[in-house]
Amino acid sequence: MKTGLSKLLVLPLALLAVAALAQPGVDVRSSVAFDVAQLEDGSQYVVDENGNALYAYVRDEQGISRCYDDCAAEWVPVRVSSTSELSASEELSEARLGRTSRRDGSMQATFQWWPVYVSANAEPGAAVSDESGEWLLITPEGELLQDALAQAADADAGSDDEVAAVGSLSSGVFTEAQAQRGADVYQQQCAMCHGANLRGTPGGPAIAGGLFDLTWGDQTVGDLYTYVHGNMPPGRAGSLGNQTYVDVVTHILSVNGYPAGDAELTVDHDLDSIVITD
Ligand code: HEC
Repeated sequence: MKTGLSKLLVLPLALLAVAALAQPGVDVRSSVAFDVAQLEDGSQYVVDENGNALYAYVRDEQGISRCYDDCAAEWVPVRVSSTSELSASEELSEARLGRTSRRDGSMQATFQWWPVYVSANAEPGAAVSDESGEWLLITPEGELLQDALAQAADADAGSDDEVAAVGSLSSGVFTEAQAQRGADVYQQQCAMCHGANLRGTPGGPAIAGGLFDLTWGDQTVGDLYTYVHGNMPPGRAGSLGNQTYVDVVTHILSVNGYPAGDAELTVDHDLDSIVITD
């Protein structure tokens, strides 16, 4: 655990020059070491190796950053490459670490699939409070530190134009080929506990039929995706890659009788808008 330490970093001049040439203000980290720090009230939050608070933006649903331009100048995305080393201190689960693609093709580190940012205005090692309530610290469990999430989502309703809209489940929101891909992964990763036909085993509940309707009816595909991504397979949550989780979810939906359509379902869709009804 780190306590608000401030460190003087002396970067080699050459490194600074390279970063500046690549793109002003854009700096790709070769490694990010996630750690834990503590507020005065004892709440824990996730920081980087310099003790700088890592923030989540409440509008970044499903791991997709919506912070660009002016926003990204103030809240600086923690940019990484596919080869950057992401590591976690003992108090954190490595399974929560990941990366997501940005619109410009660069990558950003994620924690519990929240793209993470540092504040350009914070003192090193300090956490800033943000009046909009849209920039929140992340707990070691991957929760956001204030429950402003629901409020912000309400205020934001209707202005979601950056996320592709999708129809209702009955109109066919995934393809047959996609569900088949999901089925292949399911047989490898899930069937030993939930059964080859999704009807359950002593090691895991049924995820098809009446029990599925009971648990997931009126929730959204986004909820199902978030649950599976965050919990399955037990002990290796998040290990399959975002799109693979979507594929597996389409397999579950397919077995539960929802029809295939013409377009694949991706993480770029507004999965929270698709309600699971029977
Ligand atoms: C080692 C056994 C095991 C494996 C492997 C496993 N699960 Fe699970 N799964 C469980 C158990 C146990 C639960 C119930 C957990 C609970 O209720 O807290 C569960 C719960 C679930 C649920 C919620 C069930 C409900 O209440 O409707 C879903 C959905 C699910 N798993 C999907 C998957 C998928 C998809 C995979 C493969 C990527 C997978 N699981 C792999 C054991 C497993």
